[in-house]
Amino acid sequence: MNKAQISIALGAALAFAGLAGAAETTKPATAAPTYTKDIAPIFQEKCETCHRAGTNAPMALTTWQEARPWAKAIKARVVARNMPPWHIDKSVGIQEFQNDRSLNDAQVALIAKWVDGGALQGDPKDMPVAKVWPSEEGWMLAKQFGEPDLIIKSDDYTMPAHGQDVWWKPMNVIPLTEPRWVRAVEIRPTKDGRLITHHSVAALHQEDPAAKNDGDAADDPNAGPGGLLMEWAIGKNYDTYRPDGGKLLLPGAEIRWDIHYHAVGKQITDHSEIGIYLYPKGEVPKHRTVLTNFGAVNRTNGGSLDIAPNSVKMNQNFHVLKAPARIENFQPHMHLRGKAMSMEAILPDGTRQMLSHVDKFNFNWMNNYIYTDESAPVLPKGTTIVITSWHDNTVANPNNPDPDQWVGQGDRTVDEMSHAWVNVTYISEQEYQDWAKTHKKPSPMTSRRTTADNNQ
Ligand code: HEC
Repeated sequence: MNKAQISIALGAALAFAGLAGAAETTKPATAAPTYTKDIAPIFQEKCETCHRAGTNAPMALTTWQEARPWAKAIKARVVARNMPPWHIDKSVGIQEFQNDRSLNDAQVALIAKWVDGGALQGDPKDMPVAKVWPSEEGWMLAKQFGEPDLIIKSDDYTMPAHGQDVWWKPMNVIPLTEPRWVRAVEIRPTKDGRLITHHSVAALHQEDPAAKNDGDAADDPNAGPGGLLMEWAIGKNYDTYRPDGGKLLLPGAEIRWDIHYHAVGKQITDHSEIGIYLYPKGEVPKHRTVLTNFGAVNRTNGGSLDIAPNSVKMNQNFHVLKAPARIENFQPHMHLRGKAMSMEAILPDGTRQMLSHVDKFNFNWMNNYIYTDESAPVLPKGTTIVITSWHDNTVANPNNPDPDQWVGQGDRTVDEMSHAWVNVTYISEQEYQDWAKTHKKPSPMTSRRTTADNNQ
């Protein structure tokens, strides 16, 4: 057999095995994209960061031999925009993100075509040079900033194989003798610990009233008198502040951990570590960034989540900005029934803008959507931030453990939450005016989606 015949035979064999999308659409080898030439470069860029030997992803995707058995699943996940995990609605709101890991339309089409064409290997000579990855144990921010200036480790906790959820709340001192500004933070649970860690929140315990967030958790003792430093959840590993922003650490400050463990059938001992990157001594960034909890339920007024069995529930709440501010990111937080969340802005002049809408929320992925320097919205004092959340407590939600349960607000994984973690950088009135002079006003757009759309 010549090469073309081999490829055709292979394509037919894969189609027969049910790996190709549809046998009748199998194209001659010359027309079909190949792994080595077309697909490997995409997988190297967009998948290998998670799908390689030694990571928690279910399989490696670094060679054709590894990828081929998954061809059908790859097409399904990629076309549904479920993989890579990036669940934002691409048809509305801001689309430029610092950490965008999604595929573009052409890449999705090419992967689908490759699978439909028989998931062919192609000429091994076309294979790009293998990517070299750092070991899993390193800090992700090391590439950008080197090793952290401070590493604070929580005390160990041993989670039994079975049992109720646990919230582990040790306190650890940050060894500082003078005030210092933070420019980036990263949290890592241990490798095994990732299996049981639902979230790991590091609140700052220090008297610093200016850092208090004015969102829903303002009265939440978990937020700590010094505000929140960082929240880790699957899919969110670090925060970096813009060159003019940061958080202040005072001498004597402590980290108050809130690490939520969920038993997984085997005993695991874990701790979290937080790596803190400081501005050089004496350097004070112009602005303070406040990690804010914008809720979809008005809990300060006694409201609570209340989700009836077999229903889709919408909640909405409003937060007025006390000063002009730049909104740095959008990170929806819900649990198993979470379906969608949006963040809109109603400006004092009445115009309404959709900032971001996550329409395919998936509990397994607490993605943090970080705007770029240019795309981060700058809003005037008095702007209302509108958070809308949707929970799907029906059988249509594959993550739903039991649609016949009534679900309320609570910390356990089987309870619900509905807030967004948002870094808010407050600026002065003058800075806002200067910014407005050089930036044309974003066109007022209303949400294309309505409640009814998401309720379907
Ligand atoms: C940020 C990490 C990450 C990235 C990037 C990523 N994946 Fe995944 N992938 C995972 C994890 C973890 C799982 C298992 C949990 C889940 O299904 O969400 C998974 C599951 C999958 C599955 C389902 C496997 C099964 O058990 O059926 C497929 C297929 C897949 N990924 C393909 C891809 C492809 C193709 C890309 C790149 C275009 C990609 N993934 C990018 C982490 C990632």
